[in-house]
Amino acid sequence: MKKISLLIIAVSAIATVDAAEPIAKRPSLERMAHACSGCHGTYGHAIAPTPVLAGISEEGFVKAMREFKAGQRESSIMNRISQAYSDEEIVGMAQFFKKQ
Ligand code: HEC
Repeated sequence: MKKISLLIIAVSAIATVDAAEPIAKRPSLERMAHACSGCHGTYGHAIAPTPVLAGISEEGFVKAMREFKAGQRESSIMNRISQAYSDEEIVGMAQFFKKQ
């Protein structure tokens, strides 16, 4: 009987771990977009030769990011960065930059 109780405790402990929240949640879209500021400027207002993202069309942004992600457009930096974002996140960031 004692063994069975221990087994139940062990199994429920595993189930609790499985159901736990992920340690790091995905950041908000705005926060994600700030990760681009080092090269594309604050809120996408680049002053360097890097492309300006502020006011970019949603279509243009999404197309560029999908092409970078698929390796259809070459850029050693953007090919790697684009891998980190889901399609929904790319669309969300496109809407963010369009409004800047
Ligand atoms: C380390 C610098 C760097 C960072 C950080 C960076 N980019 Fe870029 N990005 C570039 C460079 C350089 C280009 C130009 C690539 C080319 O066309 O060859 C570019 C191009 C782009 C373009 C294409 C723009 C156009 O008009 O064709 C988009 C869209 C873009 N980046 C989005 C992002 C997003 C979103 C982030 C943040 C998640 C980001 N970038 C972070 C350097 C960077």
